[in-house]
Amino acid sequence: MRTAGPPFTVAGMSDHMPAREGSGSEVPYERVALGQDRAHSARLYDYFLGGKTNYIVDRDAARDLMQALPAIETVARVNRSYMRRAVRYAAQQGVRQFLDLGAGFPSAPNLHEVAQDVARDCRVIYADTDPIVLVYGDELLDGTPEGRTRVVQADVTRPEEILAAMTEQEVFDLDRPVAVSLHAVLHLVPDAERPHDGVSRLMDQLAPGSYLSLSHCTGDLAPRTWRTVIDVCARHGISAQPRSRSQVRRFFTGLQLVEPGVVPAHRWRPEVDPGPGILRDGQVCLYAGVACKR
Ligand SMILES: C[S@@+](CC[C@H](N)C(=O)[O-])C[C@H]1O[C@@H](n2cnc3c(N)ncnc32)[C@H](O)[C@@H]1O
Repeated sequence: MRTAGPPFTVAGMSDHMPAREGSGSEVPYERVALGQDRAHSARLYDYFLGGKTNYIVDRDAARDLMQALPAIETVARVNRSYMRRAVRYAAQQGVRQFLDLGAGFPSAPNLHEVAQDVARDCRVIYADTDPIVLVYGDELLDGTPEGRTRVVQADVTRPEEILAAMTEQEVFDLDRPVAVSLHAVLHLVPDAERPHDGVSRLMDQLAPGSYLSLSHCTGDLAPRTWRTVIDVCARHGISAQPRSRSQVRRFFTGLQLVEPGVVPAHRWRPEVDPGPGILRDGQVCLYAGVACKR
């Protein structure tokens, strides 16, 4: 766990760093493998949203994924639009502390902008495992004077570290509710890493009135397509584990799902009726749901 900001060196490039010995003012550089030699979920997603934080390896993988799942750019937009509705919902219920776990690169409007649009004093912690995401996180520190935003390194499978980061940053009061967003993250965490257990241990520690919001890829609605998507991801070094509706619902165990429950993301409290035939469930392939801890 680390707050964004300290200097990184790129693994394998230390020869290019200025000599530090004997200067008397050594900076404690930490060698971090940035993983630029293969595609990464955050940069792929950035590409699908029309961003510029992606490399050739990501764009190659993106093109293969677009062949397998032609609506994938739409799915990314559906996911961002779901984030806006779910965060607004939690803020309208009175929650003022938001944890965006697996935050990805900044993409306007960012979660803190959505929450602080409802209440200017909302506080937001962005967390991710990827060092490049954390560096770009600087752009997320521009919230309202009444609120606060922070960026930390944290892994959904290590809830104790997330809780420590939340308190160390002195941004959250853990006696008060927190709205946790885990959007388009958990399908990147295989069962072997026990993501259900991680989420449950995190929610256990939060105050009553806290919320959990998830979006999660599924193969339920287009099984053949998803077999191909998993193969393409594996070829590009990304492990993807889409889950069934009941496996996604399991993340909400012990919490009270709000209406309409776990549904394809574009059907979760849509603000504008998309009309028949514009978006089919099989194109979206993404379940979403929000639940409250009572
Ligand atoms: C597809 S992006 C989603 C970004 C954002 N949540 C959204 O929905 O717009 C997935 C993000 O999850 C992060 N991630 C992957 N595994 C993670 C883990 N175990 N813990 C925390 N973040 C993780 C990736 O680094 C990436 O930034």
